Amino acid sequence: MADKKKCTAQVTSQIKLAEDIYSMWIKFPEDADVAGMAVPGQFISMYCHDGSRMLPRPISICEINTPDNMLRVVYRIAGKGTEEFSKLGADSTIDVIAPLGNGFTINAHSFKRTLLIGGGIGIPPMLGLARSLKDNGSTSIEAVLGYRDGTLLLKDEFEAYARVYVSTEDGSAGIKGNVVDVIKEYGIQADIIYACGPLPMLCGIKALARERGIKAQLSLEERMACGIGACLGCVCQSKEKDGHSNVNNKRICKDGPVFDSEEILI
Ligand SMILES: Cc1cc2nc3c(=O)[nH]c(=O)nc-3n(C[C@H](O)[C@H](O)[C@H](O)COP(=O)(O)OP(=O)(O)OC[C@H]3O[C@@H](n4cnc5c(N)ncnc54)[C@H](O)[C@@H]3O)c2cc1C
Ligand code: FES
Repeated sequence: MADKKKCTAQVTSQIKLAEDIYSMWIKFPEDADVAGMAVPGQFISMYCHDGSRMLPRPISICEINTPDNMLRVVYRIAGKGTEEFSKLGADSTIDVIAPLGNGFTINAHSFKRTLLIGGGIGIPPMLGLARSLKDNGSTSIEAVLGYRDGTLLLKDEFEAYARVYVSTEDGSAGIKGNVVDVIKEYGIQADIIYACGPLPMLCGIKALARERGIKAQLSLEERMACGIGACLGCVCQSKEKDGHSNVNNKRICKDGPVFDSEEILI
């Protein structure tokens, strides 16, 4: 398959993890080596069967199974599209473009003290990164996971790869507050930060990384339309001019969703 063509994939399993949260494994056809090309932090565009919803829904890759050419996504029902996905049983088909965007970059710092931060539905892509780092020999991974309440999405799975800390907005588990409160409370130090979550959380992490002089890679999950860089429906402001349009913009779907924290204005 040529890179990033739409293909029909097979849903091999789908389970409900919590109220309105689902985990789905998707297997790609033999002529589409999607899992072999995918890296943590990239996303896939999933199409609805209902033709009234033409735009695909972007969902982050949560886990990659290269030998079986499968990807896992974990998503929350936000509207009609994700509601339709939640009803797909094993052996359903789904049209997908994958993998899309630029994922997390692993460099020399990634194998020192690595701090992964996920907030809400930004937690799933961090699981695949934790696994990839551990599989590649990283021995110091700390994960700070921020939740609204005590529904601790994927926390158990993170524990296989990282030392896990939790914040909840309602104080029902871990530290009452946000992920930055946890980092300060436990005095967590890092050589590199990777994060995905709501914009206010990413702004807090950018400020913390700058204050401490460490690199941070942030994944933005803003609204998208085409998902392939054509419509400019997902731009964020950037420090440098974009060679493509000559303005201070970056397309989240094509240039991101992962950016160096100092590359974008948030
Ligand atoms: C790069 C990227 C990765 C994503 N990864 C995940 C993921 O791993 N798991 C997951 O659950 N969701 C993820 N999302 C969000 C997901 O794409 C939306 O929730 C989904 O498209 C909603 O489709 P829908 O048809 O169900 O709802 P719609 O009817 O399209 O929207 C329902 C409601 O959700 C809001 N909404 C739609 N898209 C977004 C968005 N991107 N951010 C915030 N609010 C939104 C709308 O404003 C509306 O209020 C990701 C988004 C992006 C851009
Ligand atoms: S969603 Fe169309 S350019 Fe990004």
